[in-house]
Amino acid sequence: MRLTVIGTGYLGATHAACMAELGHEVLGVDVDPDKIAALRAGQVPFHEPGLPELIQKHTASGRLRFTTDYAEAGTFGEVHFVCVGTPQRKGSEGADLTYVDAAFAAIAAHAAEGSLLVGKSTVPVGTAERLASLFEGAEVAWNPEFLREGFAIEDTLRPDRLVFGVRSSHAETTLRKVYAPVLDAGTPVVTADFPTAELVKTAANAFLATKISFINAMAEVCEAAGGDVGVLAEAIGYDDRIGKKFLRAGVGFGGGCLPKDIRAFAHRADELDVSLAFLREVDAINMRRRDKVVALARELCGGAVLGARIAVLGAAFKPDSDDIRDSPALNVAARLRLDGADVTVYDPEALDNARKAYPLLGYAISAEEALRGADLVLHLTEWPQFREIDPERAARLVARPRIVDGRGALDGERWAAAGWHFRALGRPAPAGERPLRGLLGGKRTT
Ligand SMILES: NC(=O)c1ccc[n+]([C@@H]2O[C@H](COP(=O)([O-])OP(=O)(O)OC[C@H]3O[C@@H](n4cnc5c(N)ncnc54)[C@H](O)[C@@H]3O)[C@@H](O)[C@H]2O)c1
Repeated sequence: MRLTVIGTGYLGATHAACMAELGHEVLGVDVDPDKIAALRAGQVPFHEPGLPELIQKHTASGRLRFTTDYAEAGTFGEVHFVCVGTPQRKGSEGADLTYVDAAFAAIAAHAAEGSLLVGKSTVPVGTAERLASLFEGAEVAWNPEFLREGFAIEDTLRPDRLVFGVRSSHAETTLRKVYAPVLDAGTPVVTADFPTAELVKTAANAFLATKISFINAMAEVCEAAGGDVGVLAEAIGYDDRIGKKFLRAGVGFGGGCLPKDIRAFAHRADELDVSLAFLREVDAINMRRRDKVVALARELCGGAVLGARIAVLGAAFKPDSDDIRDSPALNVAARLRLDGADVTVYDPEALDNARKAYPLLGYAISAEEALRGADLVLHLTEWPQFREIDPERAARLVARPRIVDGRGALDGERWAAAGWHFRALGRPAPAGERPLRGLLGGKRTT
């Protein structure tokens, strides 16, 4: 089949490459000429494992091309996937739909009679219905996307499920044809009306955010009551009905999806006169964990971070990504910098993006360089290589061996045994830790 993919960011570039991998001829469309030039040259302007190779493979095979020209897109194929951004609207919790509206209007103006315009962007319920009423010659369908950055190709080619929001058997048959190899591999497909298809996506994100904030709320209780949220999570996670996934207490979620999606969902529910007030608490718990890391940093620095050298391990909002949108790590780093700390950030992939967005922070080109001479270390993005840092060797690099594990991923006993003052969210200090002295009173190890 001949497909277009409109909007070639994280979602669209992945979708375009994966559709070519499924055997389709694909034209990627974006309004950003620099992005299109890079993609044409086989360069992906963000970090996604395997994606550059897949794009190069299919630009070379001739199955994947890129353009900025909507007229070319309109005549190219009869199925058009819209993958443009839906960020938070300025000054509101709601979603900004200007990009979605513009992309649908532009492709509808050029699409052949009978084309299928398939929305993949995450949108407030009611959007598909509204768009469908605007275009006469083309049909609308909604096919929400659930991919995770870092696993985007795997999640697109072997998704947990596909959701088809359709109004006609023609639309369903067309989508089944597009995804035939995925369906043949046994992927379940859920066919739904427009509102349900849109809501599946926002409900899934709301559930995941709630699970993360639930365990982070338990961390708050553990901090107040002297419990250990790591042990608590393990114990409740043995219950199949609860499960272990997304139950790691830490500095919370960020990125370009969960925060804006739960806000947009609560906002849309208000418009529908339904209360999803709990999602605002989910958001508030999440933001309070950032405050907690800042508070722990102050505590470990003897009450204030002014003048302290702080190494921040991580800038991306999660590992295997260079996406820094609403990154908890950079949010904490920037706040400590404002409090007068000398902050040095290291991340394996996100340094360029971080530098552009936070030019006043210091940056290191390795974890070792960031650690050297630090009064405090903050572990804020769960890259596997940070788990592999040897605490004894690290203790020799820093000025003072103090660390906050904001991801609940490090072995506190091991770090404490190597002489570190170790703090993790919702967990007591490891047994046998030496008493902590303030920044000024503490003895430097170098
Ligand atoms: N990133 C993810 O992991 C992910 C996962 C599932 C769903 N989503 C959803 O997918 C959508 C896109 O997210 P993203 O992360 O890819 O965003 P992004 O910002 O990386 O990409 C959006 C792209 O759309 C382009 N664009 C904007 N207006 C356009 C127009 N009128 N015509 C053509 N191109 C246009 C932009 O130039 C940009 O390249 C959002 O609704 C998001 O919530 C994202």
